[in-house]
Amino acid sequence: MKKLQTYTAPGITVTFDPNLCIHSAVCLSSLPAVFDVRRRRWVRPEAAAATAVAAAIDKCPSGALKYRLEGQAEPSAEEPGGDLETTIQASTNGPLLVQGSFKLLDEAGREITSEGRAALCRCGATARQPFCDGSHRRVGFMSKRYS
Ligand code: SF4
Ligand code: FES
Repeated sequence: MKKLQTYTAPGITVTFDPNLCIHSAVCLSSLPAVFDVRRRRWVRPEAAAATAVAAAIDKCPSGALKYRLEGQAEPSAEEPGGDLETTIQASTNGPLLVQGSFKLLDEAGREITSEGRAALCRCGATARQPFCDGSHRRVGFMSKRYS
């Protein structure tokens, strides 16, 4: 398991879990001044307004990036996804993107996550079941439409 990374700036703390990143590059294209993998410290939250950083992180499909705005309350353990509607969206040639209020359980019924966002592997090639680790690109996974 890779270590959780934390980046702080006035008004916001950003965390990045490399184990969950599916390498969609949404963060890089949303706010390149803040997210740039060519830099050693690849997240620089001080390079934009905290609200802009938060808006970019809200687009992260896997939940690898998270943030806490200064003064923001801790999320409730009972309501990890808030009162958001739960959606499961198939991405083109990639994972199932789950968003909203849910609990993901393992085979024994133990909770794996309830973080409000997750990218689940549907190609079978990931090394981090049940999460997508970006291996669908390596194996050339193609999703089919059933319509
Ligand atoms: S999954 Fe999230 S952290 Fe990883 S590249 Fe995509 S937007 Fe960035
Ligand atoms: S869908 Fe991404 S690794 Fe399987």
